[in-house]
Amino acid sequence: MSVRAYLKNNPALKKIILSFIFRRKPYQARVRWYIWVWHIFPRYFRRGIDWSSRLDLVPFHKFILGKYSRIEKNVVINNGMGDVIIHDEVHTGIGCVLIGPITLHKHVGLSQYVRILGMHHGSDVLSPHHHQPTQAAPVILEEDVFVGTGSVIMGKKNGEPLVIGKYARIGANAVVMNDIPPYSVAVGNPAKVVRVWDFEKNTWVKPTVN
Ligand SMILES: CC(C)(COP(=O)(O)OP(=O)(O)OC[C@H]1O[C@@H](n2cnc3c(N)ncnc32)[C@H](O)[C@@H]1OP(=O)(O)O)[C@@H](O)C(=O)NCCC(=O)NCCS
Repeated sequence: MSVRAYLKNNPALKKIILSFIFRRKPYQARVRWYIWVWHIFPRYFRRGIDWSSRLDLVPFHKFILGKYSRIEKNVVINNGMGDVIIHDEVHTGIGCVLIGPITLHKHVGLSQYVRILGMHHGSDVLSPHHHQPTQAAPVILEEDVFVGTGSVIMGKKNGEPLVIGKYARIGANAVVMNDIPPYSVAVGNPAKVVRVWDFEKNTWVKPTVN
Protein backbone atom coordinates (compact mmCIF):
# COMPACT_ATOMS: atom_id res chain seq x y z
CA MET A 1 0.00 0.00 0.00
CA SER A 2 1.36 3.43 -0.92
CA VAL A 3 1.96 6.08 1.77
CA ARG A 4 -0.75 8.20 0.16
CA ALA A 5 -3.31 5.37 0.30
CA TYR A 6 -2.28 4.53 3.89
CA LEU A 7 -2.83 8.15 4.99
CA LYS A 8 -6.16 8.27 3.20
CA ASN A 9 -7.29 5.39 5.41
CA ASN A 10 -5.92 7.09 8.54
CA PRO A 11 -7.39 10.61 8.58
CA ALA A 12 -6.17 11.33 12.15
CA LEU A 13 -2.55 10.57 11.19
CA LYS A 14 -2.93 12.56 7.98
CA LYS A 15 -4.16 15.56 9.98
CA ILE A 16 -1.12 15.39 12.28
CA ILE A 17 1.30 15.20 9.33
CA LEU A 18 -0.41 18.11 7.55
CA SER A 19 -0.17 20.19 10.72
CA PHE A 20 3.63 19.83 10.52
CA ILE A 21 3.61 20.97 6.89
CA PHE A 22 1.12 23.88 6.88
CA ARG A 23 0.96 27.04 8.98
CA ARG A 24 -2.01 27.84 11.20
CA LYS A 25 -4.89 30.10 10.24
CA PRO A 26 -5.00 32.63 8.65
CA TYR A 27 -2.03 31.35 6.60
CA GLN A 28 -3.13 27.72 6.52
CA ALA A 29 -2.55 27.31 2.79
CA ARG A 30 1.16 28.24 3.16
CA VAL A 31 3.88 25.90 4.37
CA ARG A 32 5.82 26.27 7.63
CA TRP A 33 9.18 28.04 7.61
CA TYR A 34 11.31 24.85 7.76
CA ILE A 35 9.44 23.36 4.76
CA TRP A 36 10.06 26.66 2.91
CA VAL A 37 13.81 26.60 3.72
CA TRP A 38 14.20 22.95 2.72
CA HIS A 39 11.77 22.63 -0.17
CA ILE A 40 11.23 26.08 -1.75
CA PHE A 41 14.17 28.40 -1.05
CA PRO A 42 16.78 26.30 -2.95
CA ARG A 43 14.68 26.50 -6.12
CA TYR A 44 15.22 30.25 -6.39
CA PHE A 45 18.87 29.57 -7.26
CA ARG A 46 17.75 27.83 -10.43
CA ARG A 47 18.33 29.83 -13.59
CA GLY A 48 15.02 31.03 -15.03
CA ILE A 49 13.10 31.53 -11.76
CA ASP A 50 12.81 35.21 -10.80
CA TRP A 51 13.38 36.04 -7.13
CA SER A 52 10.17 38.09 -7.01
CA SER A 53 8.01 35.10 -7.99
CA ARG A 54 6.02 33.33 -5.28
CA LEU A 55 6.34 29.57 -5.15
CA ASP A 56 3.70 28.01 -2.90
CA LEU A 57 4.93 24.45 -3.15
CA VAL A 58 3.99 21.46 -1.05
CA PRO A 59 6.29 18.42 -0.83
CA PHE A 60 3.59 15.87 -1.70
CA HIS A 61 2.90 17.20 -5.23
CA LYS A 62 5.37 17.75 -8.07
CA PHE A 63 6.73 21.00 -9.38
CA ILE A 64 8.84 20.40 -12.48
CA LEU A 65 10.41 23.13 -14.58
CA GLY A 66 11.92 22.13 -17.92
CA LYS A 67 15.10 23.27 -19.60
CA TYR A 68 15.25 26.96 -20.67
CA SER A 69 11.81 27.65 -19.18
CA ARG A 70 11.26 30.95 -17.42
CA ILE A 71 9.22 32.07 -14.40
CA GLU A 72 8.99 35.86 -14.67
CA LYS A 73 8.59 38.58 -12.05
CA ASN A 74 5.60 38.31 -9.69
CA VAL A 75 4.46 34.95 -11.04
CA VAL A 76 2.62 32.82 -8.45
CA ILE A 77 2.82 29.04 -8.65
CA ASN A 78 0.79 26.81 -6.33
CA ASN A 79 0.83 23.01 -6.39
CA GLY A 80 -1.26 22.45 -3.26
CA MET A 81 -4.10 20.81 -5.24
CA GLY A 82 -2.01 19.01 -7.86
CA ASP A 83 1.23 18.78 -9.82
CA VAL A 84 2.55 21.73 -11.80
CA ILE A 85 4.53 20.35 -14.72
CA ILE A 86 6.23 22.86 -17.01
CA HIS A 87 8.11 21.37 -19.93
CA ASP A 88 11.08 22.84 -21.85
CA GLU A 89 11.24 26.37 -23.27
CA VAL A 90 8.00 27.58 -21.68
CA HIS A 91 7.67 31.29 -20.96
CA THR A 92 5.40 32.58 -18.19
CA GLY A 93 4.92 36.36 -18.44
CA ILE A 94 5.01 38.89 -15.61
CA GLY A 95 2.25 38.42 -13.01
CA CYS A 96 0.89 35.04 -14.17
CA VAL A 97 -0.90 32.87 -11.61
CA LEU A 98 -0.65 29.10 -12.06
CA ILE A 99 -2.63 26.87 -9.71
CA GLY A 100 -2.15 23.15 -10.25
CA PRO A 101 -2.90 20.57 -11.45
CA ILE A 102 -1.49 22.10 -14.63
CA THR A 103 0.69 20.77 -17.46
CA LEU A 104 2.33 23.19 -19.88
CA HIS A 105 3.95 21.38 -22.78
CA LYS A 106 7.02 22.48 -24.72
CA HIS A 107 7.13 26.04 -26.18
CA VAL A 108 3.94 27.19 -24.44
CA GLY A 109 3.90 30.99 -24.14
CA LEU A 110 1.89 32.84 -21.51
CA SER A 111 1.72 36.63 -21.92
CA GLN A 112 1.48 38.88 -18.88
CA TYR A 113 -1.14 38.32 -16.15
CA VAL A 114 -2.50 35.03 -17.48
CA ARG A 115 -4.29 33.00 -14.80
CA ILE A 116 -4.62 29.24 -15.09
CA LEU A 117 -6.77 27.78 -12.35
CA GLY A 118 -6.69 24.03 -11.80
CA MET A 119 -9.16 24.02 -8.91
CA HIS A 120 -12.60 25.16 -7.81
CA HIS A 121 -13.93 26.13 -4.41
CA GLY A 122 -17.21 24.64 -3.23
CA SER A 123 -20.40 26.61 -3.88
CA ASP A 124 -22.58 25.42 -1.01
CA VAL A 125 -24.36 28.52 0.30
CA LEU A 126 -24.61 27.09 3.83
CA SER A 127 -20.94 27.48 4.79
CA PRO A 128 -18.07 29.86 3.97
CA HIS A 129 -16.30 28.94 0.72
CA HIS A 130 -12.96 28.30 2.44
CA HIS A 131 -14.54 25.79 4.85
CA GLN A 132 -15.73 23.66 1.95
CA PRO A 133 -13.72 20.97 0.18
CA THR A 134 -11.98 22.13 -2.98
CA GLN A 135 -12.05 20.20 -6.24
CA ALA A 136 -9.15 19.65 -8.64
CA ALA A 137 -9.82 20.70 -12.25
CA PRO A 138 -6.73 19.82 -14.32
CA VAL A 139 -5.62 22.03 -17.21
CA ILE A 140 -3.35 20.90 -20.05
CA LEU A 141 -1.81 23.23 -22.63
CA GLU A 142 -0.35 21.23 -25.50
CA GLU A 143 2.80 22.13 -27.40
CA ASP A 144 3.28 25.74 -28.54
CA VAL A 145 -0.04 27.11 -27.24
CA PHE A 146 0.11 30.92 -26.94
CA VAL A 147 -2.14 32.72 -24.45
CA GLY A 148 -2.80 36.46 -24.79
CA THR A 149 -2.38 38.86 -21.90
CA GLY A 150 -4.99 38.94 -19.13
CA SER A 151 -6.65 35.66 -20.07
CA VAL A 152 -8.20 33.29 -17.56
CA ILE A 153 -8.24 29.53 -18.13
CA MET A 154 -10.30 27.64 -15.59
CA GLY A 155 -10.53 23.88 -15.33
CA LYS A 156 -13.81 22.05 -15.83
CA LYS A 157 -16.17 21.72 -12.88
CA ASN A 158 -16.66 18.00 -13.59
CA GLY A 159 -12.95 17.41 -12.89
CA GLU A 160 -12.12 16.18 -16.41
CA PRO A 161 -8.98 17.75 -17.90
CA LEU A 162 -9.45 20.92 -19.94
CA VAL A 163 -7.18 20.64 -22.97
CA ILE A 164 -6.03 23.47 -25.22
CA GLY A 165 -4.73 21.78 -28.35
CA LYS A 166 -1.37 22.11 -30.03
CA TYR A 167 -0.59 25.52 -31.56
CA ALA A 168 -3.91 27.10 -30.45
CA ARG A 169 -3.85 30.90 -29.97
CA ILE A 170 -5.95 32.42 -27.19
CA GLY A 171 -6.84 36.11 -27.58
CA ALA A 172 -6.05 38.74 -24.96
CA ASN A 173 -8.58 38.84 -22.09
CA ALA A 174 -10.27 35.58 -23.08
CA VAL A 175 -11.98 33.36 -20.50
CA VAL A 176 -11.50 29.72 -21.45
CA MET A 177 -13.82 27.20 -19.80
CA ASN A 178 -13.83 24.39 -22.37
CA ASP A 179 -11.43 22.49 -24.63
CA ILE A 180 -9.98 24.44 -27.54
CA PRO A 181 -9.05 22.37 -30.63
CA PRO A 182 -5.50 22.34 -32.00
CA TYR A 183 -4.45 24.88 -34.68
CA SER A 184 -7.23 27.34 -33.85
CA VAL A 185 -7.64 30.93 -32.62
CA ALA A 186 -10.13 31.42 -29.76
CA VAL A 187 -11.23 34.76 -28.30
CA GLY A 188 -13.78 36.28 -25.92
CA ASN A 189 -15.68 35.35 -22.78
CA PRO A 190 -16.48 32.47 -22.88
CA ALA A 191 -13.78 31.80 -25.47
CA LYS A 192 -15.04 30.75 -28.92
CA VAL A 193 -13.05 29.55 -31.91
CA VAL A 194 -12.91 32.29 -34.60
CA ARG A 195 -10.17 30.92 -36.87
CA VAL A 196 -8.83 27.49 -37.77
CA TRP A 197 -5.72 26.66 -39.76
CA ASP A 198 -6.49 25.26 -43.21
CA PHE A 199 -3.70 22.83 -44.05
CA GLU A 200 -4.66 22.74 -47.76
CA LYS A 201 -4.71 26.52 -48.27
CA ASN A 202 -1.96 27.12 -45.71
CA THR A 203 -3.83 29.97 -44.08
CA TRP A 204 -6.24 30.79 -41.25
CA VAL A 205 -9.93 30.52 -42.21
CA LYS A 206 -13.19 31.14 -40.37
CA PRO A 207 -14.60 27.92 -38.92
CA THR A 208 -17.56 26.45 -40.78
CA VAL A 209 -20.75 26.64 -38.75
CA ASN A 210 -22.56 23.33 -38.49
C1 LIG B 1 -5.99 36.21 -30.70
C2 LIG B 1 -4.96 36.88 -31.60
C3 LIG B 1 -3.64 36.10 -31.50
C4 LIG B 1 -5.56 36.75 -32.99
O1 LIG B 1 -4.75 37.35 -33.92
P1 LIG B 1 -4.99 37.05 -35.50
O2 LIG B 1 -4.77 35.59 -35.76
O3 LIG B 1 -4.19 38.03 -36.28
O4 LIG B 1 -6.55 37.23 -35.69
P2 LIG B 1 -7.41 38.50 -36.14
O5 LIG B 1 -6.80 39.78 -35.65
O6 LIG B 1 -7.67 38.35 -37.60
O7 LIG B 1 -8.76 38.27 -35.31
C5 LIG B 1 -9.70 37.26 -35.62
C6 LIG B 1 -11.05 37.71 -35.08
O8 LIG B 1 -10.99 37.69 -33.64
C7 LIG B 1 -11.22 39.00 -33.12
N1 LIG B 1 -10.26 39.18 -32.02
C8 LIG B 1 -8.92 39.14 -32.10
N2 LIG B 1 -8.38 39.25 -30.88
C9 LIG B 1 -9.39 39.38 -30.02
C10 LIG B 1 -9.44 39.52 -28.62
N3 LIG B 1 -8.34 39.53 -27.88
N4 LIG B 1 -10.65 39.59 -28.02
C11 LIG B 1 -11.80 39.55 -28.77
N5 LIG B 1 -11.81 39.42 -30.12
C12 LIG B 1 -10.61 39.34 -30.73
C13 LIG B 1 -10.98 39.96 -34.27
O9 LIG B 1 -11.71 41.15 -34.14
C14 LIG B 1 -11.44 39.12 -35.46
O10 LIG B 1 -12.85 39.16 -35.49
P3 LIG B 1 -13.68 38.99 -36.90
O11 LIG B 1 -13.60 37.52 -37.25
O12 LIG B 1 -15.07 39.41 -36.55
O13 LIG B 1 -12.99 39.86 -37.90
C15 LIG B 1 -4.69 38.36 -31.21
O14 LIG B 1 -5.79 39.20 -31.58
C16 LIG B 1 -4.45 38.53 -29.72
O15 LIG B 1 -5.36 38.74 -28.90
N6 LIG B 1 -3.14 38.44 -29.34
C17 LIG B 1 -2.69 38.56 -27.99
C18 LIG B 1 -1.76 39.75 -27.88
C19 LIG B 1 -0.98 39.73 -26.60
O16 LIG B 1 -1.47 39.35 -25.56
N7 LIG B 1 0.27 40.11 -26.69
C20 LIG B 1 1.18 40.09 -25.58
C21 LIG B 1 2.51 39.69 -26.11
S1 LIG B 1 3.64 39.32 -24.81
